[in-house]
Amino acid sequence: MTGRARAAEREVRVFDDAAALSEAAAELVAACARGAVAERERFTLVLAGGSTPRALYELLAEEYRSRVPWERTAIFFGDERAVPPDDPESNYGMALGSLLRHVPVPATRVHRMRGELGARDAADDYEAVLRRALPVGTPGNAAATFDLALLGVGADGHTASLFPGSEALGQTERWAAAAVAPPTAAVRDRITLTMPALGRARVVCVLAAGAGKREIVAAILSGAPAAAALPAAVVRGAERTIWLVDRAARGG
Ligand code: 6PG
Repeated sequence: MTGRARAAEREVRVFDDAAALSEAAAELVAACARGAVAERERFTLVLAGGSTPRALYELLAEEYRSRVPWERTAIFFGDERAVPPDDPESNYGMALGSLLRHVPVPATRVHRMRGELGARDAADDYEAVLRRALPVGTPGNAAATFDLALLGVGADGHTASLFPGSEALGQTERWAAAAVAPPTAAVRDRITLTMPALGRARVVCVLAAGAGKREIVAAILSGAPAAAALPAAVVRGAERTIWLVDRAARGG
């Protein structure tokens, strides 16, 4: 199977519960890190926001601490709410408390989306950060920019802060964009990586846990035409696209 064909295919693994899912995700992070450092002497990881990844981050900070070369790791974020880092809604704040405070990633290589600037200015700032920090490809050979991008999926099919029908979804050039979450979101103004940025991750891994995700996971993984254009259905890694799902989210 060609690399592109592999990327087009989703690999789906189902686990008995969220704990087993988090364990498998930690194994994936460690494996991607080993491969990246062996090949390129550095590991570039995009962290997901929301609540699902917290257990994974705690595992990475504890049981898996010694299995990731943190000193050679660069951290980016898939999205952020337009709030300061100490706001309870901050994705950076969640990652800091559950992982980053506990592992020796050099501070200069933790690239936080500066939500306190407001969505548009923070997106412009992050665009510049990405363009400075990531290897640029040669024309026609867009270098992969991230080794692994962790993502979640919302019940509406969003991923990162790419919401169905949103303007940010239409971005074909920028790597970071301002976005607006639906009225039900605690914080509507967001910053998000765009599809072009996410698509240049060698591996994209979507984490889905809990009965609340059952309907959207079924729609996306079944290939239902009505779900085909949803951001979480569209997102693909350059080499692999993996969905790690617990039984509550997968049904059965
Ligand atoms: C965010 C996330 C978002 C999240 C999904 C799933 O800022 O909220 O980046 O994309 O991953 O909404 O969230 P849960 O893990 O809380 O279900």
